Amino acid sequence: MPTTDVDFDTVSRAIHARRTHKAFTGAAVDRATVELILENARWAPNHRLSQPWRFHALDQAAIRRLMAFLVATPGIAAVPDPAKGSAKLAKLLDRLPSAGALVQVTWVRASDPRIDLEDHAAVAAAIQNALLAATALGIATYWSTSAALVHPDTLRWCGVDTATQGAIGCIWLGHAKEVPPIPPRRGLNEVLYWVEGT
Ligand SMILES: Cc1cc2nc3c(=O)[nH]c(=O)nc-3n(C[C@H](O)[C@H](O)[C@H](O)COP(=O)(O)O)c2cc1C
Repeated sequence: MPTTDVDFDTVSRAIHARRTHKAFTGAAVDRATVELILENARWAPNHRLSQPWRFHALDQAAIRRLMAFLVATPGIAAVPDPAKGSAKLAKLLDRLPSAGALVQVTWVRASDPRIDLEDHAAVAAAIQNALLAATALGIATYWSTSAALVHPDTLRWCGVDTATQGAIGCIWLGHAKEVPPIPPRRGLNEVLYWVEGT
């Protein structure tokens, strides 16, 4: 007896079609679309209903202000590798105007390390929900842990309370400029171990 009317092929197609995009056209992703995507994110599984996800969304005007902040504080891009800092910042500043919106995703830290780990995992699941929802809407995505974007100063600039929240990543949302390559995956036979009865 099926428990839902969800169509397997549709879900599987979204999972396989989701791709990491790095080339966006520069067209905006509007607020309603960002909210539709995050509405799906917040339905991820989470133990004890902790709902540890927090989202700080930036529209294109905010992205331009963020760029000015990054230009004014170049030391941020030098973490964790000072030698590559300026080249990394230049690349980031080159790419940021192409994003249609950005979402900083954080989790509310728990004092118990086991709960903290579970909550971190729950927010990763929320991000995947967001990426799949975006894919189904025709929005290209990029889950980035760029040192400059997840730097505590950048997070604070975005309004994150870094005393109580940790960064899981920054989701870039936009309109695809090109079709990205499909990175290979290990076959199921390489990662699945059946534990059989006697
Ligand atoms: C936690 C996490 C952080 C990531 N951070 C970056 C990043 O900073 N830079 C980057 O190029 N890709 C990043 N990615 C994307 C991966 O490179 C990408 O998922 C991988 O190459 C597989 O490609 P696909 O997403 O198209 O299947 C990140 C992915 C995850 C799950």
